[in-house]
Amino acid sequence: MIKKCLFPAAGYGTRFLPATKSMPKEMMPIVNKPLIEFGVDEALEAGMNGMCIVTGRGKNSLTDHFDINYELENEISGTPKEEKLKDIRAIMDNAYFTFIRQREMKGLGHAILIGKKLIGDQPFAVVLADDLCINEEGDGVLKQMVALYNQFRCTIVAVQEVPEDQIHKYGVIKGEMIKDDIYRVDDMVEKPPQGTAPSNLAIIGRYILTPDIFDILKETPPGKGGEIQITDALLTQAKKGCVLAYKFKGKRFDCGSVPGYIEATNYVYDNIYED
Ligand code: G1P
Repeated sequence: MIKKCLFPAAGYGTRFLPATKSMPKEMMPIVNKPLIEFGVDEALEAGMNGMCIVTGRGKNSLTDHFDINYELENEISGTPKEEKLKDIRAIMDNAYFTFIRQREMKGLGHAILIGKKLIGDQPFAVVLADDLCINEEGDGVLKQMVALYNQFRCTIVAVQEVPEDQIHKYGVIKGEMIKDDIYRVDDMVEKPPQGTAPSNLAIIGRYILTPDIFDILKETPPGKGGEIQITDALLTQAKKGCVLAYKFKGKRFDCGSVPGYIEATNYVYDNIYED
């Protein structure tokens, strides 16, 4: 059973400055719901109740969001506005939250390693909240991945086909298709220079990781951009054992970029938001 989900959320969100000068990028709203809450919803739907958040300096509103706000709740108690807090209250009733601070920005792999204190020795999910995933036709992406994990019992990364001129922005996998939409990874590279990507399958911010990844991360030297890359650690794991890549069902919005954020906002407003 996968019960915990890790949310690396210590990054600066520089692409949205000045909005993210004092507000965490994970708190940017898609209409009226912060990005992180979409990720938490997806993890809950997949059967997880331990939400483990790796935060950084100036990110206290992330902690506050998943706690009671007595003054506000007292103020709107008994009014129709109370309804607006229904979803977040349900989250607080069904999930618990733990937090740890990443003091230095040494990359996604480093953030995941910091999260070990919250995860312990068990398989877990990772959600990068600025990749917003929505599947209105069926199960959310994490739930799809948990079903696969239960079948294969190994690390799984979510992938999506992206156009050639975009692929250099992602971790990219190469692998043999072993079943519809499932690949056994034999190579992966973090943000390959233009024209050198081993395929058009980009890793997006959903992972199921087996806990041996922590020991591998400890031994993984800084890679692209001088940062400890989860992609490099995953390649080691793939060579030692097995890593699968899964072409998920559903839509994904890159809310770390302005166009993706606007697209997600319009999509949610048109299809999901209820006033
Ligand atoms: C990170 C990962 C990258 C992955 C991407 C998905 O990069 O390092 O492998 O493809 O997330 O969003 P970032 O976007 O944080 O630079």
